[in-house]
Amino acid sequence: MNQFFLGDVLKILKEIDSNSIDLGITSPPYNKMEKHNGGLVSSVKYDKYKDSMSEKDYQRWQIEVLDELYRIIKPGCSFFYNHKIRYLNGTMLHPLEWLRKTKWRLRQEIIWNRDIAGNIRGWRFWPIEERIYWLYKPIDKNDKGKELMSKHALLTSIWDIRPEMKNKMHPAPFPLEVPLRIIFSIFDIEDSKTIIDPFIGSGTTALAAKFLNHNFLGIDISEQYINQSKIRLENMENERAVVDREISLHKVNKTYKQRKEEARKK
Ligand SMILES: C[S@@+](CC[C@H](N)C(=O)[O-])C[C@H]1O[C@@H](n2cnc3c(N)ncnc32)[C@H](O)[C@@H]1O
Repeated sequence: MNQFFLGDVLKILKEIDSNSIDLGITSPPYNKMEKHNGGLVSSVKYDKYKDSMSEKDYQRWQIEVLDELYRIIKPGCSFFYNHKIRYLNGTMLHPLEWLRKTKWRLRQEIIWNRDIAGNIRGWRFWPIEERIYWLYKPIDKNDKGKELMSKHALLTSIWDIRPEMKNKMHPAPFPLEVPLRIIFSIFDIEDSKTIIDPFIGSGTTALAAKFLNHNFLGIDISEQYINQSKIRLENMENERAVVDREISLHKVNKTYKQRKEEARKK
C-alpha cells in the first residue's frame, strides 16, 4: 500500500486505523510567522500554506497532530520528529515545550548538524543545527523498546548531513539521508513495513521507504507537491547513489569492547 493523500493532516490522520503503522518520520512547517515581522527563521514560502499561526495555536496544533500519530502508530514502534530551536522576541522556543505535552515517550534527541544555515546575524552564535526527536510508543511493560544493532548505534547522536540543495521542487526538503538513516536503522533489512510522513512535501520519506523495500503513506495540503513527489518516485533511480553512500556508513569498525579499551587508555 503506497499512497499520497491530498488534504489537511488532522482530517486525514483521523481516518487511519489505530495501531496500524510501523514507523513515522516528519518535518512539520516551523511556524515562521512571516506576517508578524522579524520571522523566526529564514524565509521559506510554501505553495498552499502561510506558516503563520500564533505560537500558542501552533503548539496546540502540533500536540494534536502528534497525539493522533501516537494513536495510529503500533505499540513498540517509533516516530521521528524534526524541528529546530526558534526565537521569538529574543527568547528561545524549544520543541520540548510541546513535545513533553504529547503522549509520546521521548527516547532521544538527535542533533542534526547541517553545517550551514541562512541566518548569519550576530544576535547569538550562528545556529546551524536542527533537532530530530525519537519518540516511542511503549508496548506492554517495555518502556525502552528494542536495541539498535551496533552498526547503526555507532553512528552517534550527532548527524552531519548538509541541507538538500538539488531539490528545487520544494522550499524545505529533507536531504534523502535523513529518512534513509532512520528507516535503515530501525528496520535494517526487514521487508514491507508501513511508514507515514504526515507532512510529506516533496516525497523524500516516500522515496527512502521505497529504496529500502517498504510501503509509505504521505499527506500534504499541496497538490503541486504531491504531483511532484509522484514524478520524483518514477525517477527514483537518479538518486540511488545517496542510498549506497548512506548504507556504507552503517558498519562496525570497532567493537564496543575495543572502544571501551581505547577510552580507558586515554
Ligand atoms: C517542512 S515541509 C516538509 C518537507 C518534506 N520533509 C520534504 O522532504 O520535502 C512541510 C510540509 O507541510 C505541508 N503542510 C502544511 N500544512 C499542512 C496541513 N495542514 N496538512 C497537510 N500538510 C500541510 C506543506 O505543504 C509542506 O510541504
